[in-house]
Amino acid sequence: MTMTQGSYLLADQGSELDRLQLQARVWEPAGSKVLEQIGNGAGALALDVGCGAMGWLRLLSEWVGPQGTVTGTDIDEKMLSAADAFVASEGLGNVALIEDDLFASDLDPGSFDLVHARFQLAPLGRAEEQLASYLRLVRPGGTVVLEDVHPGSWHFLPPAPAIEDRLIPLLAQAFEIGSDDPWVARRLPRLFRDANIEPTVRAEVQALEPGHPYQRLPLQFATALQGALHKLVDADELAAMLDEAEAELADPGRWGLTFTLVQTWGQRPG
Ligand SMILES: C[S@@+](CC[C@H](N)C(=O)[O-])C[C@H]1O[C@@H](n2cnc3c(N)ncnc32)[C@H](O)[C@@H]1O
Repeated sequence: MTMTQGSYLLADQGSELDRLQLQARVWEPAGSKVLEQIGNGAGALALDVGCGAMGWLRLLSEWVGPQGTVTGTDIDEKMLSAADAFVASEGLGNVALIEDDLFASDLDPGSFDLVHARFQLAPLGRAEEQLASYLRLVRPGGTVVLEDVHPGSWHFLPPAPAIEDRLIPLLAQAFEIGSDDPWVARRLPRLFRDANIEPTVRAEVQALEPGHPYQRLPLQFATALQGALHKLVDADELAAMLDEAEAELADPGRWGLTFTLVQTWGQRPG
């Protein structure tokens, strides 16, 4: 199923704002590494498409510096007001937030030096069309950075069988029903090459210490996707699985490994 314009699998979940801010903090160091590799951004005009509650706003604000400007867009007002509160609390004076639909953008074409979008391809499931929109917004020679999820590394140390052998595969099935292309990260390099862009690829996995709140991500997804999960598994079985998952997370010695963040970038042909 392709998501309709503006629809997004996890929209309207109260907990989604908190989850996105936590997630954005967890992945900030990985984003910094990409920006370091891209080079000096001083004075640049940068865009974070679908920035959610935080996204790359703080990272980009620092990267472009006081002479540069960051624009964060989203289609969802609640995301933008959370992002606005974050920008104010951090005093990010070079960041502007705009409500904009990436499929019908009102932003000026070719007006950004860098366009970034994270966790947008998989939920919206329109990768080729999305890349074309991002490329329309970046100037010739400017950089497009896309980041998405590869689930291969999503495990625990020691193993947590209820979470990694049962819950995560079930969530994967729910994502496969909700998106045309939940594992689009696997074809990111091909997507760029098909658009005549030579991609650079890096990948990052984080180790999460016992009790780290991001270890709870599979359980948060289970709450957000309850409706879909109930179609895939009997309610009692799901409840038992979630109880076992909670017990596994309560182990004070259990470390987590995140999914793999695949980061791909390249320059729009001049
Ligand atoms: C999974 S969240 C990722 C948020 C952020 N990029 C991050 O990594 O933390 C996807 C975001 O895309 C936004 N979105 C969905 N459809 C959109 C559209 N058509 N145009 C712009 N943003 C959209 C959602 O509101 C949501 O904030």
